[in-house]
Amino acid sequence: MSPEQLKSLVRTIPDFPKSGIQFRDITTLIGHGEGFRASVDWLSAEVSRAPVDAIAGMEARGFIFGAAVAAALGKPFIPIRKPGKLPIKTIGVDYALEYGSDRLEMDPEAIGDGCHVAIVDDLLATGGTACAATELLRKAGARVQTASFIIDLPDLGGARKLRDCSVEVTSLMQFE
Ligand code: PRP
Ligand code: ADE
Repeated sequence: MSPEQLKSLVRTIPDFPKSGIQFRDITTLIGHGEGFRASVDWLSAEVSRAPVDAIAGMEARGFIFGAAVAAALGKPFIPIRKPGKLPIKTIGVDYALEYGSDRLEMDPEAIGDGCHVAIVDDLLATGGTACAATELLRKAGARVQTASFIIDLPDLGGARKLRDCSVEVTSLMQFE
């Protein structure tokens, strides 16, 4: 499927979860079997362009794509979780969102020192989530050099923010 066909499978919901936000909903993309597979194939090819030992994905939508990519490549998947979900002592980072704030946590033992970890998520907006995930993964000893997204919202500056912390960004589609 072409990037244009895949883009047409993303549903836009105005004023969700707050007035003024155009919510780009991937439910309709993953609800289309061929579209989901083509999206996962694209992400798998992107993260394979550099050495990669493991894939990290952020709860919740990042789990959908990140876990699928990790399984397709036969690599470990590292879940980066919202607070209070992991049953162990965690490391964590607080961050701001386009519509609020949150915290990410992970198992500090999840990664061997110096492992190359690629970040995968559905969408890049302000970059707050992906930057927090980068900081967290680096705290745990990972090398984080790439992050790949299905959707980028370039007006919100996330790609610039990630490049400022030395992470190369790729995205399958953009919504202005
Ligand atoms: C969404 C999306 C990204 C993040 C992008 O997740 O899945 O992870 O926002 O925004 P940012 O670039 O401004 O940080 P959300 O926190 O809404 O959680 P969800 O995956 O549980 O829906
Ligand atoms: N996460 C942050 N901003 C978003 C948006 N505009 N649409 C969908 N998910 C988002």
